[in-house]
Amino acid sequence: MARVLVIGGTLPEQCLCELASEHTVRKLTRNAIETEEGRSALQTAEGIIAIGQIPLGQDFFDRTPNLRVLSLRSVGYDRVDLDECARRRIVVCNTAGTLDRAVADLTVLLILSAARRLSEALAYRWSDGDAKPALGLDIGSKRVGLYGYGRIGSLVGKTLTAGFGTEVVYHSRTGSENNGHQFGRWVERDELFCTSDVVSVHTPLTPDTWHSIGTREFDLMKSSAYLVNTARGAVVDEAALINALSSRSIAGAALDVLETEPPSADNPLLTLGNVLVTPHIGSATEQTRHAMASRATANLLAVLAGRRPTSVVLDESHFATTTEGTR
Ligand code: DGY
Repeated sequence: MARVLVIGGTLPEQCLCELASEHTVRKLTRNAIETEEGRSALQTAEGIIAIGQIPLGQDFFDRTPNLRVLSLRSVGYDRVDLDECARRRIVVCNTAGTLDRAVADLTVLLILSAARRLSEALAYRWSDGDAKPALGLDIGSKRVGLYGYGRIGSLVGKTLTAGFGTEVVYHSRTGSENNGHQFGRWVERDELFCTSDVVSVHTPLTPDTWHSIGTREFDLMKSSAYLVNTARGAVVDEAALINALSSRSIAGAALDVLETEPPSADNPLLTLGNVLVTPHIGSATEQTRHAMASRATANLLAVLAGRRPTSVVLDESHFATTTEGTR
């Protein structure tokens, strides 16, 4: 029996029961991590399931000397210090593959919302007597540029192409040799920004992609174009985005992710008229969250039982050589 901690949120009853049938389980809220009770629970934990956006850096792992497995209830692992985990031989798992459809669906919703200027329409008051918001775009006759073309990006490409007849182009790090996807055409990076009517972000956050969309990219974009981001806020330089939106150097944005979450109350993105912000709900459907919780539970149980987890970011094979995960 190992000591297992569920931190930052909870899991469905069924998952908690599965864990409890093999191990001692405790739940810890994000705030409780900082309490005396939290410190002692972390001290003895051998397995942790982490929910939400808690930063998991050296400070955190200093408090978990017995940790053997960190099972993320998320696909993204940018908040985890993988070098530190490798150094301490902590296996890290994620929920890759469980939330692609849900995030792709939200992306399409935000692309349509941006193109149809939904934020302005929602702010419109009939009694104002003001002119209605300016006209939107028919997404079926426009070009959407996908910045990144992994599992989620390619599902978005498929949905837009097959469902709306949209012209889809993409740029990904794997380069033009992957050209020939049925649902999109690879283009050079600058071409994507210069020619797309909507640019949608689908790259993970890494040191290479951090702030990789900034003033230069907004200057390349058409003044009629929109930015959509359901990936990670910090891929975009938020100050540059606020400038581009305020000066109307781009037409608008629809964002499910921000550089800092929760955002400060005075973040201009929350009040600019040409921006729609949703509170990081890409995976927030009942089925998807259930699948993520089940995967996180199964991954943790597998590692503690000496079996290989379904989706692993970092394991023994990485400890000796590299700390770079897969996504
Ligand atoms: C993830 O799993 O990384 C998503 O951002 C959560 O919604």
